[in-house]
Amino acid sequence: MHLVELSDGAVGRVLGENLYDEIGRILLRRGVKLTASYVRRLHTKGFKSVYVLNELAPDVEPTQTISNETRRAATGAIRNFSEKIVDGQSVDTNSINNAVTKILDELQGQEDLILNLTSIKSIDNYTFEHCVNVCVLSLVIKESTPARDKFSRLDDPQLGHGAMLHDVGKLVIPKEILCKPDSLTYEEFEIVKRHPTAGHNILNEFVSESLAPEIALYHHERVDGSGYPEGISGQELDPASRIVAVADVYDAVTSDRAYRKRMKPAEAVEILESVAGSHLDSDLVQYFTERVAHYEEGSIVRLNTGELAVVVAQDNNSVRSPLVRVVVDPEERIQDEPFEVALVDEPDIQIEEVLDDYPSNVMKQIDN
Ligand SMILES: [Fe+2]
Repeated sequence: MHLVELSDGAVGRVLGENLYDEIGRILLRRGVKLTASYVRRLHTKGFKSVYVLNELAPDVEPTQTISNETRRAATGAIRNFSEKIVDGQSVDTNSINNAVTKILDELQGQEDLILNLTSIKSIDNYTFEHCVNVCVLSLVIKESTPARDKFSRLDDPQLGHGAMLHDVGKLVIPKEILCKPDSLTYEEFEIVKRHPTAGHNILNEFVSESLAPEIALYHHERVDGSGYPEGISGQELDPASRIVAVADVYDAVTSDRAYRKRMKPAEAVEILESVAGSHLDSDLVQYFTERVAHYEEGSIVRLNTGELAVVVAQDNNSVRSPLVRVVVDPEERIQDEPFEVALVDEPDIQIEEVLDDYPSNVMKQIDN
């Protein structure tokens, strides 16, 4: 399956994944054929894209870095925690700790893990899903740093816990600003910039002994001092906040937002590389970009041969060169006999472009 934009083009496609609303109730089941009214309904629920079955490679599914069950439990825990804070109730962080433990259990033993976290987030559920993704990403980034450096000395549960709660200060920012479909005015951005300090103050009250208040305060600081709220830079920035900053930027740019479409993983990697050393810690960006899938399984790519292919599997030694299955010839005819190419062994064959979907010519042949 592969991600497509929820537009008229999605009508008639077969849904590749169960879709849930913000409190975990099922909206649509995998296997259902999308109708125009389903598409409209999903739009009103804040979805911008969905996974559909890839008709030319129905067996290919993106690998899940963590299971849907763990993801949903973690999203529920952070939602619950946030609602209690908004209601002024006392909170404990046991459920957050349990969620982090489950995530760590699932990550453990996946030695050559190549990260793939393009999950569908509805706009409404963005904040909570984002927290879970930033937690997973942060733990894997930390795990990929060399032994005995300042990063690898961090405590996993504490890092995961702080990463999960890094944006808790957004609870004090008006929803109209957080979900605004256009770019923010200067004044609105000044309000958004209060969330690190707000998060720090909230967390200091409940979990002052952990890394969480510091991560909340510093996750928008930049290594060149251009960040907020304090504009501190370089060595003053603690290792945990540096890790969470990389995870935060990656997940933000690969997610659909009210004001822009998500970027594909390879584009997001380019963004990270372009700000390595100025905004983000350059070593961490390097470790990260060697662990994250540049091309998601199931995505449709155009090769420099003119053929269209589906990404079938990652290559553990090269995140930039996956195994692909050629399904459409350069004349846009569906291949009678698709064949697979390990790009790592074929330096002359490259991915030129990641497509949002098959071109209309190919879709016509699929429909016939
Ligand atoms: Fe933030």
